[in-house]
Amino acid sequence: YSLKNCNTFGIQAYATEFTAVQTIDELAQVLKENQGKKLFILGGGSNMLLTKNIDALVIKINLLGIEPIWEDNNTVHLKAMAGENWHSFVQYCIEHNYGGVENLSLIPGNVGATPIQNIGAYGREIKDVFICCEAMDIETQQLKTFTKADCAFGYRESVFKGSLKGKYIITSVTYQLTKTNHTINTAYGDIAAELTEKGITLPTIKDVGNAVTAIRQSKLPDPKELGNSGSFFKNPVIPASQFEKLHLLHPQMPHYSAGDNQVKVPAGWLIEQCGFKGSRFGDAGVHAKQALVLVNYGNATGHQLLQLSQKIQQTVFEKFGIAIEAEVNII
Ligand code: EPU
Repeated sequence: YSLKNCNTFGIQAYATEFTAVQTIDELAQVLKENQGKKLFILGGGSNMLLTKNIDALVIKINLLGIEPIWEDNNTVHLKAMAGENWHSFVQYCIEHNYGGVENLSLIPGNVGATPIQNIGAYGREIKDVFICCEAMDIETQQLKTFTKADCAFGYRESVFKGSLKGKYIITSVTYQLTKTNHTINTAYGDIAAELTEKGITLPTIKDVGNAVTAIRQSKLPDPKELGNSGSFFKNPVIPASQFEKLHLLHPQMPHYSAGDNQVKVPAGWLIEQCGFKGSRFGDAGVHAKQALVLVNYGNATGHQLLQLSQKIQQTVFEKFGIAIEAEVNII
């Protein structure tokens, strides 16, 4: 079974077996019938690099549905099933004037993946709107509810990437959105400038969603046109003492405080300084408008992209003494 259309990098790789599930019961059934078998759980395929064929049963999670499960005058709790496309969910919220996820417009992938790596962009993270998620225990097929505390969210981190990795399949996520008194967040990067340019002084959540969409479209490649998985690396967090020394050598180095004597440095800047921005090695390349994004010009293999990523890591380390870590899952 070809997985080319199931990963946004557009990598050609094959799975020995493939099945898609539309309901919770179907998922439980498939898990029960395939106990002991190697499984590979697939959502939107937007955060992985396939470097080999998958010798496992691939289960594509197609659970669908969005419903308000609780509301009062100011707040609504929306339960979305894991297979819902994330951006469609954001659009649903904006259309209903539910605030909280508009800064997360246009992120590829599905609802089920949002808590796994606590997706974030333009000043918001999933943890800011997260109430709970339901997940199925792969071994027992029991559904379990995880509260925000259970998830142990961090920067692109959660318990599902850590101690519970491979043990649960997220089936739904419940988010808390505002119906009134929206917290409009325009502090990050170019949002304010984008709004000013449009002559907008009192932005609605729709305006913020549009601004984020425009910024993303100007920097980030559309996976339908150019295969990619968004940011390939995490932004490294380094000790303030190390940053001070680097800053003397590189006064232009952008940086953000990350609490506790820690400083976050944009990996995109480090990669650009090493001369990789816009570079191309066969069909594997570094995006010309955002150096943090690796791209597949057509027929790159996962292995070629992996090699390019390792070359970048090595060069950044040699120049800056900073080890940058992959953000995408390397399979
Ligand atoms: N920069 C450069 N050159 C580049 C890219 C970035 O110098 O080629 C510097 C600039 O100084 C820029 C700064 O890096 O001001 C930050 O760049 P940007 O706002 O594009 O954000 P980022 O830190 O590169 C992160 C997330 C993105 C998210 C944006 C916006 C990570 C790993 N990535 O990127 O998330 O969309 O912020 O919030 O944290 C993703 O995770 O797949 C993703 C796209």
